[in-house]
Amino acid sequence: MAQWTSAVGSTQLARLLTSQQSRPAGPGSRRPPAYRSLADGIRLLVLEGRVPVAARLPAERELALALSVSRTTVAAAYEALRTEGFLESRRGAGSWTAVPAGNPLPARGLEPLPPEALGSVIDLGTAALPAPEPWLTRAVQGALEELPPYAHTHGDYPAGLPALRAMLAERYTARGIPTMPEQIMVTTGAMGATDALCHLFAGRGERIAVESPSYANILQLMREAGARLVPVAMAEGLGGWDLDRWRQVLRDAAPRLAYVVADFHNPTGALADEDQRRALVEAARSAGTVLVVDETMIELNLDEDVPMPRPVCGFDPAGSTVITVGSASKAFWAGMRIGWVRAAPDVIRSLVSARAYADLGTPVLEQLAVNWLLSTGGWESAVDLRRAQARENRDTLVAALRRELPDWDYAVPAGGLTLWVRTGGLSGSRIAEVGDRVGVRVPSGPRFGVDGAFEGFVRLPFTVGGAVADEAAARLAAAARLVASGAAPGGESPRTFVA
Ligand SMILES: Cc1ncc(COP(=O)(O)O)c(C=O)c1O
Repeated sequence: MAQWTSAVGSTQLARLLTSQQSRPAGPGSRRPPAYRSLADGIRLLVLEGRVPVAARLPAERELALALSVSRTTVAAAYEALRTEGFLESRRGAGSWTAVPAGNPLPARGLEPLPPEALGSVIDLGTAALPAPEPWLTRAVQGALEELPPYAHTHGDYPAGLPALRAMLAERYTARGIPTMPEQIMVTTGAMGATDALCHLFAGRGERIAVESPSYANILQLMREAGARLVPVAMAEGLGGWDLDRWRQVLRDAAPRLAYVVADFHNPTGALADEDQRRALVEAARSAGTVLVVDETMIELNLDEDVPMPRPVCGFDPAGSTVITVGSASKAFWAGMRIGWVRAAPDVIRSLVSARAYADLGTPVLEQLAVNWLLSTGGWESAVDLRRAQARENRDTLVAALRRELPDWDYAVPAGGLTLWVRTGGLSGSRIAEVGDRVGVRVPSGPRFGVDGAFEGFVRLPFTVGGAVADEAAARLAAAARLVASGAAPGGESPRTFVA
């Protein structure tokens, strides 16, 4: 970033910093030096997207006055931010916010639990449900019957099986977005689709605007591709996309890509309305940013009275701005590893060519199984099962949390698979660590943010129900008590977070 493109005033910055400090901080938090608190506060505002990247900060003297601190404190805070890559300055031009190249990775990955651990640990790490039988067995049997003609070919279909491409295109057309098979590439899950898009559009050091919070594994994928993540804060609760913020970020940071989950966002569960969709597409179009819309959760509307808005690609049917990513993982089963991209034919051609040097293609049998489901109506029956299961799990989990952890705060979403929970001032990282010891695996908030944001959150999925959900909440409450009392041994991270 050569220069600043917007400004945050001293009163506005002081107000943002004060509202952070009013968040609860539990017992036992030690006070860092004043300059450090100020630097951490500004860093967090950038990481949560509340202060945009490339925004000019007030002069030291002005901010000192607004915060009633010494100018030396502000100067030391700015210097710390410069060293950490969150601030750039030029004599005569002032100082503006930045994100460090390749924001650091979270401390620990969220690898699947080894099968031997599953008996004793309740795994809330992954937002994916078991296969909706009998549909998996039926789909595989159907696929086996259709396999023989393919067995006589070399089996490499880098764009996907023609039959599945045509079927997926037909489904978009039926949703009101005319689509040709040439606009579809079948991928290895939505992860494979997003990986291919990152490689095609966003080389090392390129900026990608992301919701803050966003889906942890995609953020990690983008970091590993060398992208600079530019966070855009989600509104509180289920408010979702703040279009003034999006317009500002897209205009100021001019990212090559923006990645959004507009349909039951992971982790908040928010659903973008039509106005937000239209405005997002317009903002991306005028900034020259490619908008990648991940529809992985789209079929998981759990409350039937929620009308589904027009798909985001419906606001750009030719695909000049919007690229859609889809997946069978949440609607059907993550073990299929089937996803897809819908884009303009020339984008699909480029993705297909690049695939020769990546995974070459997606397994034929699984593609046939998904095609069997889509062509027989089995898909709709399986999705109905999924929705019923997720709805029941959500309702049990929420009731158990209300009982066990009444001061944890969340908005219950109408769809998706996750609850984004503010943990009453306790550190989400410490709850995750202690949770491992008391037999509940839970991802901490910072995984879903860009470098350190959301320390006061955890994400809970709708993947367990009945007595297991009750037991999960009881174990989380036990972990919270240990963290709050400071009795849990080990671990470096603070038991409370200080914003
Ligand atoms: C928003 C989102 N995108 C992508 C994925 C991963 O999808 P897939 O299993 O199709 O790679 C998930 C899984 O939780 C998700 O929530």
